Amino acid sequence: IPVDPFDLVIFGATGDLAQRKILPGLFRRHVAGQMPTDARVIGAARSDLSSAEFRAMARETIAAHVDPALQDAALLEDFLSRLDYVALDVQAGTGWEALRSLVRPDVVQAFYFSVAPVLFGDLAEGLQAQGIAGPGARIVVEKPFGRDLASAQALNATLAAHFEESQIYRIDHYLGKETVQNLMAVRFANILFEPLWNAQYIDHVQITVAETVGVGGRGAYYDRSGALRDMVQNHMMQLLCLIAMEPPWHFDPDAVRDEKLKVIRALQPVGRGDIVRGQYLAGGGGPGYLEDAGNPSSDTESYIALRVHVANWRWKGTPFYLRTGKRLRARTSEIAITFKEPPHSIFDDARGWRENVLVIRLQPNEGINLKVMIKEPGPGGMRLVQVPLDMSFATALGAEGADMPDAYERLIMDVIRGNQTLFMRGDEVEAAWAWTDPIIAGWQARGDRPQPYDAGSSGPEDALMLMHRDGRRWREIRE
Ligand code: BG6
Repeated sequence: IPVDPFDLVIFGATGDLAQRKILPGLFRRHVAGQMPTDARVIGAARSDLSSAEFRAMARETIAAHVDPALQDAALLEDFLSRLDYVALDVQAGTGWEALRSLVRPDVVQAFYFSVAPVLFGDLAEGLQAQGIAGPGARIVVEKPFGRDLASAQALNATLAAHFEESQIYRIDHYLGKETVQNLMAVRFANILFEPLWNAQYIDHVQITVAETVGVGGRGAYYDRSGALRDMVQNHMMQLLCLIAMEPPWHFDPDAVRDEKLKVIRALQPVGRGDIVRGQYLAGGGGPGYLEDAGNPSSDTESYIALRVHVANWRWKGTPFYLRTGKRLRARTSEIAITFKEPPHSIFDDARGWRENVLVIRLQPNEGINLKVMIKEPGPGGMRLVQVPLDMSFATALGAEGADMPDAYERLIMDVIRGNQTLFMRGDEVEAAWAWTDPIIAGWQARGDRPQPYDAGSSGPEDALMLMHRDGRRWREIRE
């Protein structure tokens, strides 16, 4: 879908996110022919750079972060010629006039707040007070969106003082992932799954986001956050919502977000016995969490596993098991939906028998795998064996499928198109914190400490028990 001419202002343009994700992503969209001729990107940050210096920075970061196969010299020059830079210091109040002279009033205006949340208020106010943001302007904000309910409410109020909700795009980059959107396509564009999509037929759901990296380099941020705030309150919550929600009446931003909100509100409080937290130990050539965090007495978790219940008609009795952690055995994100056993077996030999499992792989090797039972080939009689109906999106969709835009590119283009479907609404974020706050308050009140786990393992032992005691098992963490 083509996009209208736009001016995209990136506040924090010299920062890590802008350099690693936003600029390379925009360049890839340019190569894909999606940037209209008069689209412009204006970097803004405190550093005293000229536009030429900013372009030189962009050239370097594109060289470092974009696939060499996409690096066409002429396209690169054309892209760079659309970049400008303004030195702007929000706290000192300098640079606004220079920005005003660059931002055009008659094109789509998008302002990306790639800065610390403490600056959101001043930026939002400045854009209005300086007469830069027109009535249709959009602002884009990143996580962390608060660290508890109170701070998220305060941030929402700050933004709402200057912009309408329809102008605010809260990014959760998981919603930009190809397979995450595919979840909705699989559920709502096929008749096959939806009739079985409930507690009557689904035994349980496992959501895993496992990472091999530690928190080195961002220990100071992470240690104030932990896995629950960093991954569960946002990314994993969004995945859970897309699996658990009712069919929206239409693929429309508020219709989808209304349904997600209902799921979050239906989440039951999580009891003490339904949480396992962990901290990775040194190993595999890497330091342990405490060293990475620079805090020898930290009780922040780098791993968390939870058993969660969605208390509504559809899901009563079907637990959702969530786990995420750093320095685990492999980098893999997946959702596995395990169906119940058939009510009656007509086969005597049930040795090979297993439940049907639908696995949605988010990364790597995005795809869908449905495990079904068939007869073992050969003359051995009616012996059952489980086989995968496996579809890798890259293979199924050919080279084009493999060349999918990354989450940020897709989301930025949605901002320009004015489509909020894949962005979190203020009430969703608050509801998610409202569920998370008591969990944190609970472990703080008890003085719980995370359990150590080996780097390169599947997490703490007790996480296994979380499922074992229900007679279930986690899936193996592997690429
Ligand atoms: C970020 C978290 O939001 O998501 C990081 O802050 C995490 O801690 C990252 O590593 C994971 O994203 P992805 O896309 O690599 O799965």
